[in-house]
Amino acid sequence: MSQSLKVQWTDALCTGNKAIDNQHKYLIDIINDLAHVIETGQAAQSMKKIVNLLQYYTEWHFCKEEDCMNRLKCPAAGRNKEAHAQFIATFLAFRAELEGGGDSNEIATRMYKTLVAWLVQHIQGIDANLAHVSGEGGLPAAATPVPEAAPTPSVPPPPQPAPAPAAAEVPPPPVKQDTEPVVEKKKWWQIGR
Ligand SMILES: [Fe+2]
Repeated sequence: MSQSLKVQWTDALCTGNKAIDNQHKYLIDIINDLAHVIETGQAAQSMKKIVNLLQYYTEWHFCKEEDCMNRLKCPAAGRNKEAHAQFIATFLAFRAELEGGGDSNEIATRMYKTLVAWLVQHIQGIDANLAHVSGEGGLPAAATPVPEAAPTPSVPPPPQPAPAPAAAEVPPPPVKQDTEPVVEKKKWWQIGR
């Protein structure tokens, strides 16, 4: 019996900051898209779009999270920024490997396992420090996740510091439905970068 690669969100991944938690949930959602194309043998056709979205959203999220830690004077802010930079380097190495040819499914599988292991360890080891500083003065809780039936996914804002805290807390795009083909619903990925 084969078991799905997909990762499930659990409370063990909560950071104590709902806006950041919602962003992490969306990151896991994208990573699970990666699992989907691996499991269905679509890596060669779909990896580019997923990698583009993953890079775009990850950079945006890292920017928001670093800004959040700085504003809250989180003691883990420095380590967080360094870890993010290392992650981006790892991600870009995988990206280069994919673009250089080779077995897309094999590269995608290694990439997926690396991303999952890193993200879980990073959230629990570093991002969780937000719990100590996200009380009064922390980011406002993000709105309830966008309903599944939302007709058009919204593109998250570019990875730049927003001028006002309220404007910065745009919730992630809608949670995607597993039953829809990954490629079909993400044509908007290609815009923006
Ligand atoms: Fe982080």
